[in-house]
Amino acid sequence: MKQKLLAPSILAGDFSKLGEEIKVVEEAGADIIHLDVMDGRYVPNITIGPPVIKSLRKITNLPFDAHLMIVEPEKYVDDFIDAGVNMISFHLDATIHAHRLVEHIKSRGVKAGIALNPSNPVSTLEEIIHFIDYVLIMSVNPGFSGQKFIPEVLNKIPKLKKLMEDTGRTDVLIEIDGGINKDNITQISQMGVDIFVAGSSVYGASDKKEAVRILKEKMNVFVV
Ligand code: DX5
Ligand code: ZN
Repeated sequence: MKQKLLAPSILAGDFSKLGEEIKVVEEAGADIIHLDVMDGRYVPNITIGPPVIKSLRKITNLPFDAHLMIVEPEKYVDDFIDAGVNMISFHLDATIHAHRLVEHIKSRGVKAGIALNPSNPVSTLEEIIHFIDYVLIMSVNPGFSGQKFIPEVLNKIPKLKKLMEDTGRTDVLIEIDGGINKDNITQISQMGVDIFVAGSSVYGASDKKEAVRILKEKMNVFVV
């Protein structure tokens, strides 16, 4: 079994003290830091870009997972890689030549992922699955933290697992993003998800360290 990884999203944190927000989850055992990049075009919100990420890179050695919710991500991926990110996901409908972009990201030593909106079917991955490192299944519509989890997206997990098996790509990691909390993380983990993004369930908690600890414990609970 692959290792389960928790990736707190700083989108739900206090932007006046992002360094501290990262440190607190790192000390609590976070595995990855999820960075939500929004351009006000692909999604109706604007967040952070390479200069902020470059500053944050100095304060932690945890892997940075950049979730690009921007149009024409090919124009900016090098800036994000230069800023120190380790994983980049983008949305298929935000770019024309997804395969070229995936190959470019990987050629720079960074993991490449494809993000699926709730309305995007797994079948859109049929050709690109051969080339990617991970799939990010959005369980809310991208744009904001604190939204309600959409349970129907879980139907995609067995379909994705079948596609991975049919194509010999069982090494592809599955990430889920949006509305993940202590009440749904165990069920989702048991379905075979590897990476769990958690925004408001970590940064909205009165005790962030305890929230990380509980999520990690619950994502590793298995029925024997
Ligand atoms: C939404 C972002 C998510 C978000 C998750 O567009 O991609 O990463 O920050 O926040 P929660 O966990 O609060 O849904
Ligand atoms: Zn995200």
